[in-house]
Amino acid sequence: MYEKIQETASWLKQRMTTSPETAIVLGTGLGQLASEITDTYEFQYNEIPNMPVSTVEGHSGKLIFGKLGGKDIMAMQGRFHFYEGYSMKEVTFPVRVMYELGIKTLFVSNAAGGMNPEFKIGDLMIINDHINFFPAHPLNGKNFPTGPRFPDMHETYDHELIALADKIAKEKNIKVVHGVYVGVQGPTFETPAEYRMYHILGGDAVGMSTVPEVIVAHHCGIKTFGISIITDLGGFDNPVEVSHEEVQIAANAAQPVMTEIMREMIRRS
Ligand code: HPA
Repeated sequence: MYEKIQETASWLKQRMTTSPETAIVLGTGLGQLASEITDTYEFQYNEIPNMPVSTVEGHSGKLIFGKLGGKDIMAMQGRFHFYEGYSMKEVTFPVRVMYELGIKTLFVSNAAGGMNPEFKIGDLMIINDHINFFPAHPLNGKNFPTGPRFPDMHETYDHELIALADKIAKEKNIKVVHGVYVGVQGPTFETPAEYRMYHILGGDAVGMSTVPEVIVAHHCGIKTFGISIITDLGGFDNPVEVSHEEVQIAANAAQPVMTEIMREMIRRS
């Protein structure tokens, strides 16, 4: 695996004309941010050696390099989900490559189901912490030299970036909430009992991504910041059906404010 990461990173380095230290995973709700990147050059996942190829509806797969908020950045358009059948090593492969390319800060977004009764559909939840409920761990196996065998996880989401997000949201009069993101494998949405369980266990929102990438980024010493768009609510007295379409609609509606926060964060961080 390590050789593959090196091979992919050196393939990219030979072709890169910028030196980004900031990376963005353009998850649900951040697609629009891609159109604001200037001076771009791109690589389709299927032309990059060793890169898994993305399949899920609503995601296309490419790495975009360019400028955003005055900074050199790289963005992943299309991520790899465990429920698609990728191994944890594949899901987190791009983050390992980012580390080799010199990335220091990672921004991620996702769609998630809200379980905190204070939350409303369309809320933006700054991820303060997570609970890992994936059935496999991305650091399982031989330890990578990027970090310790038993990494501390007390500050997985950088507190300075969280404070910056709060400051920006306040300035721009954007409502944000904070919470704990529970990462699960999916692909089923939760039963009402499962939503209630995850809430009792300390979760505010639940989703099928982010946790693996963030764990690996943290192990590599990359600072991370994440936002969830609350696209549906679960576990309350009147259960409401959830569908992929509804998740997309709620995410698209929240997209402009999400984009605004992320763009500004990149500029100021
Ligand atoms: N559960 C899990 N993943 C999700 C949800 C949910 O309710 N909404 C969006 N992604």
